[in-house]
Amino acid sequence: MTDAVQPGFDAERGIRFGARALVVLPDRDTARPGPAARDADARPRQAGRDADARLEEAVGLAAAISLDVIERAIVRIRRASAGTLFGKGQVERLAATVAAHDIEVVIVDGALSPIQQRNLEKALKAKVIDRTGLILEIFGERASTREGTLQVELAHLDYQASRLVRSWTHLERQRGGVGFLGGPGETQIEADRRLIRDRMAKLRRELDEVRRTRALHRDRRAKAPYPVVALVGYTNAGKSTLFNRLTGATVMAEDLLFATLDPTMRAIDLPGLDKVILSDTVGFISDLPTQLIAAFRATLEEVTTADLVVHVRDIAHPDSEAQGSDVAHVLRDLGVLDGGVGNGAGEHAPVPMITALNKIDLLDADARAALLATLPDDAVAISAADGEGVEALKALVVAMLQRSSRLADFHLDAGDGRRAAWLYAHGEVVGRTDADDGSVTLRARLTPEMAARFAAM
Ligand code: GTP
Repeated sequence: MTDAVQPGFDAERGIRFGARALVVLPDRDTARPGPAARDADARPRQAGRDADARLEEAVGLAAAISLDVIERAIVRIRRASAGTLFGKGQVERLAATVAAHDIEVVIVDGALSPIQQRNLEKALKAKVIDRTGLILEIFGERASTREGTLQVELAHLDYQASRLVRSWTHLERQRGGVGFLGGPGETQIEADRRLIRDRMAKLRRELDEVRRTRALHRDRRAKAPYPVVALVGYTNAGKSTLFNRLTGATVMAEDLLFATLDPTMRAIDLPGLDKVILSDTVGFISDLPTQLIAAFRATLEEVTTADLVVHVRDIAHPDSEAQGSDVAHVLRDLGVLDGGVGNGAGEHAPVPMITALNKIDLLDADARAALLATLPDDAVAISAADGEGVEALKALVVAMLQRSSRLADFHLDAGDGRRAAWLYAHGEVVGRTDADDGSVTLRARLTPEMAARFAAM
């Protein structure tokens, strides 16, 4: 019941800044072997991930919305209870921890049904948030573009609508539902649903409008004379740190998950190229709430139009491999790796990719030697923090961008000095033939967009 919940949260906003939190990881991987079918649905999601690292990530997510994480726990789930997820004794122990430390918010790093969430709130006498709720909160705080904000609100409403059945919601409180036994009546639920549906329809219309405008912007940028290099990677891999090192900028780089939600762009100089636009993108995360996938992809759509993707990986993280394949999976879905149709963006060619294996300063000598010995051609080992390997990364970026350039002949009429000068400035001119009539043919290497831009001149 609402009056039993501690005063650590505001039903409208969700959670108080700095609220005392307990983070709980329901762990099925280490469960005692039971009937195979029982755990089958939980395994694929958690497979290959280290429980401590997952708990760390959840603590990081909680910190990202300014919760004060007082306690943390891994709770082994032998058989998920339909009512509370955890077993009776486990719930009692959690309740004791909540009481002993004045915990206001309990984060359960897994999926809770509306009923489980409500029952746990009653039993623990604290606000309970599951992983989806938590990530929604983070996205809500971090989204800064119009599209991001709309997408997140849409996701939030979708999540809320799914929890309306017998679940306590802020709508219930708004109409004075405190102490209401058994939840709101069906009619009220229906009315709330309609309210949410109407709002969602309006948001979708606004989103369409924003997307139209964004497509215009992208077309304009596609004509910009510089190649775009997009940094992608799992959250906390070090994208912002690398971005800052390459650009000399001070994008917020913190041990804070999702410090970046909207892409940041900056022009940098690279040897042998005129300028390159570097774009820092949203961090990836496993088990992204389905409601948020659209929001996440919208921010990543920029990647599909990049000339080169740099996949930044935290090579010192125990789940480095799983994180790397999560990212690759989404990039493949977006058509970045194999080309295809990406999220309404239209057909596009695959984008060449480099892997930057980051945080090598954290590896011991043996691990570092092993890594360096097996480094493929399209990967570089770096430390964005101390700068090691960053020059090699820049060189590889230049080489890859030049490799995607094509050699072609460009015919220029006599006196067309402007276009000739442009070719010298933006391409690599490798030959020149002057004809008697004063016209010139320049043989030059240009990236595909540069060639398009030249054609439009
Ligand atoms: P999101 O915004 O969550 O997507 O994170 P990000 O990928 O932008 O990571 P960010 O650059 O914010 O770095 C995350 C943490 O890792 C910070 O505490 C950095 O200081 C740290 N970090 C980044 N690069 C390195 C590195 O090369 N070595 C070490 N030791 N730490 C690093």
